[in-house]
Amino acid sequence: MSNGTDTTPAVDLSKAEAAVDLPEMGDESRYDALMQVIRNRVTVRRFKPDYVVPDRHYDLILEAARHGPSGANAQPWQFVVVREADTKKQISDYFVAEQRFRAKAKMKFPTPNYQGLATAPGFVVVCSDMRWTNAFPVLNDGSDLDRMYHENAERILLQSVAAATMSAHLAAASLGYTVWWVTAIGQEEAQAAMRPLLGIPEEISVLDIMLFGPPDARPYKRWRRPMEEIKHMDQYDRSQCPSDEQMAAWIKERRHKVMYKDANKVD
Ligand SMILES: Cc1cc2nc3c(=O)[nH]c(=O)nc-3n(C[C@H](O)[C@H](O)[C@H](O)COP(=O)(O)O)c2cc1C
Repeated sequence: MSNGTDTTPAVDLSKAEAAVDLPEMGDESRYDALMQVIRNRVTVRRFKPDYVVPDRHYDLILEAARHGPSGANAQPWQFVVVREADTKKQISDYFVAEQRFRAKAKMKFPTPNYQGLATAPGFVVVCSDMRWTNAFPVLNDGSDLDRMYHENAERILLQSVAAATMSAHLAAASLGYTVWWVTAIGQEEAQAAMRPLLGIPEEISVLDIMLFGPPDARPYKRWRRPMEEIKHMDQYDRSQCPSDEQMAAWIKERRHKVMYKDANKVD
């Protein structure tokens, strides 16, 4: 991973725009390379503060996002790269305050420490324009049915942006970075706090923040459900559908462990 001043050339974004290059059917060599990146994408919440992300890396990462799939190919995403330390700090202050509020409100959610936002070397604010929901199947006649379609459309939009964001996270991981996905959608106050700092117009919503950089401490892999718990062949295996009590117990007893612990330490 390079550091310091960016001397590398910009990414050629026009390259192979129209070409699709599929491997031989069943050839797993690219799969293995992809899985190496997927398995090693890990969240950290504190990065090495002095590392400077070369501008080229932002291009490489957002180029991956640009190729994400989206409902109606609307590509309803915009990305604001934040490089100014003061802006990062102000955004971080908002999330730290929100974290304190949640702790006081006794939500019992094991809220992480958001102070690491302030010194995250890679900082990308992921935005969308909710008016894109009209690009998906909606009636726009004010009926109950229309409300249902609008809810569906909003989900299509959010899934589309998440798909592009995931590509960006994987691209960052492929460059050797650890990553952090922070949610902002649904928090009106987060929107209000960030818009003026970044010159974001009212029409645009901040959905997430993508942070990345070299980790401050050795990262670890978090627990993953085994395949047999998630895979169903032909028919849904009802033994994998927890009762309400089992669900509540899981959230109470396991959630904080699987969120924060090394997979090897989750009993
Ligand atoms: C949609 C989504 C929203 C997330 N929101 C937050 C968040 O607001 N704050 C946070 O600290 N982590 C957030 N995360 C990170 C998850 O906590 C993390 O991915 C998960 O614990 C698994 O760890 P891993 O990424 O190392 O595999 C989010 C991840 C996703 C995919």
